[in-house]
Amino acid sequence: MLRRIPKKRALAAVAAVMGIAVWQAPSASASVPLQYTTHRYVGSAVAAQYLASEPDYRAVLTREFDNVTPENEMKWGTVEAVRGQPDWSGADAIVEYAQRTHKTVRGHTLVWHSQLPDWVSALPAAELRQVLRDHITTEVKRYKGKIRAWDVVNEIFNEDGTRRDTVFHQKLGDGFVADVFRWAHAADPAAKLYINDYNIEGINPKSDAVYDLVKTLRRQGVPIDGVGIQAHLSIQYGFPAQFRENLTRFAKLGVQTAITEADVRIPTPPDAAKLATQADYFGRLWDGCHAVSRCVEFTTWGFTDRHSWVPDVFPGEGAACLFDENLHPKPAYFRINP
Ligand code: XIL
Repeated sequence: MLRRIPKKRALAAVAAVMGIAVWQAPSASASVPLQYTTHRYVGSAVAAQYLASEPDYRAVLTREFDNVTPENEMKWGTVEAVRGQPDWSGADAIVEYAQRTHKTVRGHTLVWHSQLPDWVSALPAAELRQVLRDHITTEVKRYKGKIRAWDVVNEIFNEDGTRRDTVFHQKLGDGFVADVFRWAHAADPAAKLYINDYNIEGINPKSDAVYDLVKTLRRQGVPIDGVGIQAHLSIQYGFPAQFRENLTRFAKLGVQTAITEADVRIPTPPDAAKLATQADYFGRLWDGCHAVSRCVEFTTWGFTDRHSWVPDVFPGEGAACLFDENLHPKPAYFRINP
């Protein structure tokens, strides 16, 4: 029987035989960069600031991944903190880097209640609707053809599956979700459009709500292509129940899924046992995504413990990434790239 070699791994092997230096193997690293081991897009969140100022950070990102997601640079609070004074510098820099290095970009995020400028929250309903439409149209058109997938709406549900009480929901009602997908699609018909959320890895009331909404929107002909599963996990709380079943039910609806923001927090300080548990969690996320053909992307929320949102937001937890502060791959990395 013919053994199926992933295309990118085969290319790396050919390059090696021909003596082409595809990359420089660091001493403690696996022989093939992660991006060449799979048919999935393999990404990381990236910060424009470190991309510009840290050559070692940039080198590992370039070597290991073939998708980037701007960590903050495309959020409304970044691109138009002050009304009428857009700042695209960080977003532009990341998109240019991605083009130069042949990586895809996951746009993050068009509609979110967080990192939302106060001036937007203060608008009356009719004006909010128009401003939201302009925001989406402007941002999506600016990067038209350069963004593979957009997180169009982010975190619109509560844990119990009810709608989150945001300014968008309060002023525009449930229907704003269908509207924003239509506006984004009109601005870049080729981009894959996603709903994105956390705590929807397993089957639970929140993922049920996402499932029901996606089903309804598809029936209505709303252009929604995928479900982004953030996957911010902690080894303290157990691995989500029925992860694969959840991916499968979305696949049956005909939409893609993507792991969009994976990290696995550890109560500090890390030790060998905790790192092994972390490796197991990353491995189950990776394997689960690879078990379902419509799971098309595995993106982590940063790749190095040197720059991770976790210690700032979850006191007493950290070390959540695949690489340590010195950019050495951790057990979790070797679990998914043995
Ligand atoms: C986080 C960033 O990593 C931080 O730098 C920022 O201060 C707050 O936002 N879910 C999301 C991401 O969708 O946008 C969040 O990113 C992490 C949680």
